[in-house]
Amino acid sequence: MPVYSISHVENVRVCVVMVGLPARGKSLIAQKIVRYLSWLSIKSKCFNVGTYRRDLQKAADIGNITADFFDPNNPDGMHFRRQAIDLALQDMMNWFLDENGVVGILDATNSTRDRRNRIVKVLRENLIEPIFLESFCNDQDLVLQNILDVKTTSPDYVGSDLQFATEDFLKRIELYEKNYETMDVSIDANLTFIKLVNVNSQIILNRIESYLESRIVYYVMNLHIKPRSIYLSRHGESEYNLTGQIGGDSNLSERGWRYAKKLPELVLKSLGEENKHTNLTVWTSTLARTQQTSSFLPYKRKLQWKALDELDAGECDGMTYEEIENQFPEDFKARDDNKYEYRYRGGESYRDIVIRLEPIIMELERQENILIITHQAVLRCLYAYFMNVPQEESPWMSIPLHTLIKLEPRAYHTVVSRIKADIPAVSTYKEKGTSQLGEQNNSTSSKSRDIINNSDIVP
Ligand SMILES: *[C@@H]1O[C@H](CO)[C@@H](O)[C@H](O)[C@H]1NC(C)=O
Ligand SMILES: *[C@@H]1O[C@H](CO)[C@@H](O)[C@H](O)[C@H]1NC(C)=O
Ligand SMILES: *[C@@H]1O[C@H](CO)[C@@H](O)[C@H](O)[C@H]1NC(C)=O
Ligand SMILES: *[C@@H]1O[C@H](CO)[C@@H](O)[C@H](O)[C@H]1NC(C)=O
Ligand SMILES: *[C@@H]1O[C@H](CO)[C@@H](O)[C@H](O)[C@H]1NC(C)=O
Ligand SMILES: *[C@@H]1O[C@H](CO)[C@@H](O)[C@H](O)[C@H]1NC(C)=O
Repeated sequence: MPVYSISHVENVRVCVVMVGLPARGKSLIAQKIVRYLSWLSIKSKCFNVGTYRRDLQKAADIGNITADFFDPNNPDGMHFRRQAIDLALQDMMNWFLDENGVVGILDATNSTRDRRNRIVKVLRENLIEPIFLESFCNDQDLVLQNILDVKTTSPDYVGSDLQFATEDFLKRIELYEKNYETMDVSIDANLTFIKLVNVNSQIILNRIESYLESRIVYYVMNLHIKPRSIYLSRHGESEYNLTGQIGGDSNLSERGWRYAKKLPELVLKSLGEENKHTNLTVWTSTLARTQQTSSFLPYKRKLQWKALDELDAGECDGMTYEEIENQFPEDFKARDDNKYEYRYRGGESYRDIVIRLEPIIMELERQENILIITHQAVLRCLYAYFMNVPQEESPWMSIPLHTLIKLEPRAYHTVVSRIKADIPAVSTYKEKGTSQLGEQNNSTSSKSRDIINNSDIVP
């Protein structure tokens, strides 16, 4: 029985309908919502109408298109676009039915009130709650920045030159603007909607009713688009890691202290000369080994979070995997069989960690440059959120000691790099089906996903 499942409690199905002109960051927001909800085990999926439109064009053998295609007076263009919306909606309905979807996101551009009312009608007929999410932006600099970031790399402009792509795209926006009708608190008073004005300078909420809707609202309120780096590190090698014991609150080993002393230098090197004065915020858990690891960092803002503490191994706290295998063989096997759901006697599961990390994720979205020093299981869950790693894989990811991981979220992917401290440490990686530590046996590690192979993923 899942501990946390909004959908089971409320039995709701929601469709988030994106509203806004092109280059307003709609797809980015849509994808982030899907990633966040999936991480919380809420089944969600994005249906991008542009993708359907491109597939239709391809099928009809219409090659490269320019802005004229988006002129409301161009019958060919209108035909494809209307068909694309219908197909996307149809697929979404099937997905709600066949796969028990909970939150579908319709990522479309055409935003007339008339069109919205049609969508509302279809959704209501299928007992799906519509919630409109508008990204409204009249700050031309923001728009141009967004065009440069993503649209000029859009599949519609493959091979085009940058100048042409930008101008053509601006023309396309102008054509959409002719018909655009923004969400309005009096005219649309009966609809559920969120309107973000110039990213998050102003947020207008209307008729937000269910718990699930309010989670989505709270999440998008925390998003920002400033460039930043997120550093993640495990604590330095601990005394328990030397003896292979889990849990506890032990001190760093001698090599762990060496990592702590080297960490400031690793961070500086990674920031680069021009950013060397950047002030990072540092978060640790409440356990001694993470605080000791942070103790040489020169930054003033250091915060301890109970929510970042290591997975609670309950009755197994302080034992080695071998001892667990001997004393609780059934538990040992149950954990290998479903590591995500397995909850230690009197302790926690990976799913439990994700639940307690939710406020951390919210706060993390608000933060700029940050360094988080925490524990293996917690780090796996944080990493899974940023890199969209599926639940069944995340507990098996290898995250070695004495390695600093840097994540740089970009418009459509996250760039990962890792910086090894070159200080030896024991391997604390346990593969499936053994109580031995270490990554010696590569043949069984199909499920263990090494972080290096995982870099630069486009979601
Ligand atoms: C379409 O774009 C491709 C590059 O992706 C280019 O080689 C081709 O010439 C273009 N075709 C037309 C009709 O503009
Ligand atoms: C959007 O859809 C409506 C109704 O289907 C249509 O009348 C309108 O021309 C479309 N707008 C644009 C910009 O294509
Ligand atoms: C909202 O719904 C109420 C009751 O169904 C109706 O009387 C009212 O006219 C609607 N308002 C708008 C702006 O559509
Ligand atoms: C490393 O040691 C800490 C205790 O200091 C423990 O919580 C953690 O589970 C250990 N890592 C592994 C995977 O053994
Ligand atoms: C950790 O080190 C401190 C100070 O050196 C010592 O007082 C404490 O007992 C140590 N804790 C453990 C669990 O070894
Ligand atoms: C970082 O903080 C220090 C002291 O808190 C301050 O002197 C410095 O100017 C800050 N650096 C930047 C780049 O803001």
